[in-house]
Formats: sequence, C-alpha cells, structure tokens
Amino acid sequence: MKYQENVLDRFRLDGKTAVVTGAAGNIGSHTAEAFAQAGANVAVVDLPRCLEGAEKVARELSEKYHVKAKGYGCDLVDDKAVAAMFDAIEKDFGSVDVVHNNAGIGGALAPDIEPWDAEHDMPHLDHWKHVLNVNLISIYIVAVAAARVMKREGHGGSIINTGSMAGHIVNQAPLYQTMDDSSYGVAKAGVLFFTKHFASQVIQYGIRVNSLSPGYCYSPVLHSGLPQEIFDCYTKSQPAMRMADVEELQGAVLFLASDASSYCVGTDLLIDGGHMIW
Ligand SMILES: NC(=O)c1ccc[n+]([C@@H]2O[C@H](COP(=O)([O-])OP(=O)(O)OC[C@H]3O[C@@H](n4cnc5c(N)ncnc54)[C@H](O)[C@@H]3O)[C@@H](O)[C@H]2O)c1
Repeated sequence: MKYQENVLDRFRLDGKTAVVTGAAGNIGSHTAEAFAQAGANVAVVDLPRCLEGAEKVARELSEKYHVKAKGYGCDLVDDKAVAAMFDAIEKDFGSVDVVHNNAGIGGALAPDIEPWDAEHDMPHLDHWKHVLNVNLISIYIVAVAAARVMKREGHGGSIINTGSMAGHIVNQAPLYQTMDDSSYGVAKAGVLFFTKHFASQVIQYGIRVNSLSPGYCYSPVLHSGLPQEIFDCYTKSQPAMRMADVEELQGAVLFLASDASSYCVGTDLLIDGGHMIW
C-alpha cells in the first residue's frame, strides 16, 4: 500500500466521485457536505418526489465548495432504476469511488400484534415488509450495483451502509416501553450482517464495505415538537445525556470513505453517546 505521508491528507477525496443516498435528508445531506469539503464531486440521490430537495443540496455544495454536484431522483427499492442511475452517474462524473448507502425510513411506533397499523393506515404485515424493503433490500440493491461499477472501473472503492444502534439492541428507550415494532431493528441488523458478508466478497477487488451505526441523532423534522417526556427519553438514555448532533457523524463517514480507513473491512462504527454501555 502507498500512503499519503501526512495522515490528514489520507482523509481527502479530491477528484473522486461520492454518491450519497437519502441525501435530501438530515444525515445524507451532511455527509454529502463532508465529502464535498474533502474535495469529492457528489451525486446527491433521493426519491423522485424529493428531487427538488436533492438538487438544492447539490446546488449548495457546488456553490460553497466549488465541486461538481448533481441531484438524482431514484426509488432505491427498484433495482433496474438503481442500475440506470449508476450508469447516469458514471456518465456524468466519469467514475464511482465512494457510496454512502444511507436512505432509510423509520419503523412503526405502534405494537405490531394488532393486524391493522392505524398510524400508517395499512396492515402491519405490509408495513413490516415495506420497512424491510426500504431499509434492507435497497441497501443490498445499491451496494451490489455500486460494486459492479467499481469492479468494472478497476480502482476499488468504499461503500458505507447506514445501520443503526437499533440493529445491535432491541431498542425500547424512546417510550420507556415496547412501542416500536421489530421491522426497523430487524432490517438494520440485516444491514450489519450484509455489510460483513458483502465486505468479504468484494475486498478482492479493492472495494471496502463498512457500516455506520448512529444512536439517537437529533433531526429538526423528526424531533422538534415532541412531548418533553419523550424527548427526555431520547436524551437521558445514554451516558452522554444528549442526542447526537448530525455533524458528529460527518467525521466517521469521511473516515470510512477515505484512505484513512484502508484496513477497515466489514467494520461497524457505532456512534451512540455510550448508549450501549448501559
Ligand atoms: N436519525 C437518527 O437518529 C438515526 C439513527 C440511526 C440510524 N439512522 C438511519 O440514518 C439514515 C438517514 O436517516 P435520517 O435521520 O437522515 O432521516 P431522513 O428522513 O432525514 O433521511 C432519509 C432520506 O432517505 C430518503 N429515502 C427514503 N426511502 C427512499 C427510497 N426508497 N429511495 C430513495 N431515497 C429514500 C428520504 O426521502 C429521506 O430524504 C436512515 O437509514 C436511518 O434509518 C438514523
């Protein structure tokens, strides 16, 4: 292996193409920003109905950091659409080097022993399958499509899957009782296992696959306006006694994306304010 002499230089992504999914959202838009700050050109991916948001993020990155950035609308559970999107990104940017495979949705906040999911107005079974589809199957679809492009281009790469603390533990803290159904945790546990499995398959091509598991990360959309009692559960259930700021995930994703983590293969980086100690 050849390394940049200065360790800080190993975090740079100059001239590389980074793809971020769920990048109109909270965590994705911030990792897209971290990649742009490190010199990468960024493909900003989100659902077709969020294309305007993705394009806004892309516009801000190119204005602020003078990198190339473009928004793409794609439903990542559709494998054909994902393959077409990677073809388009390769055509637009010339390569695919880094992928933050991050898009996801929350689980149901209702017990799944009733057949009908009143919150989402659908049978629980359909909602359970939907969460697995978006949070696990899309991760598989995107990772495989990205690795195919990276293998063909012949330069290796880095794929970072967003897992969750909830993929490690049965997470009942937010309401102090089990009100969360199992779909989210099952999907995220699947992401962690898939990460290790796929990492072992593609490292032969120089493609590193790792995951990032955030604990409770504050999002204005999700958490502002929550009743104080619930907010307290989020903040007081870990030694850090607060939720993560989204900026606190940026360094970890950049580490996994860059040569700074060249010997990380199938690693999960847990960033949970110490939640799993308790
Ligand atoms: N916020 C937290 O506390 C937390 C904790 C652990 C893990 N996570 C995970 O982090 C990731 C990002 O979450 P966030 O907090 O930024 O949420 P967010 O809702 O702000 O962002 C998620 C983005 O994914 C997009 N998305 C959803 N389904 C998609 C699909 N089928 N195709 C393309 N895009 C799709 C959404 O449109 C949204 O922009 C998720 O995988 C989530 O499970 C979040």
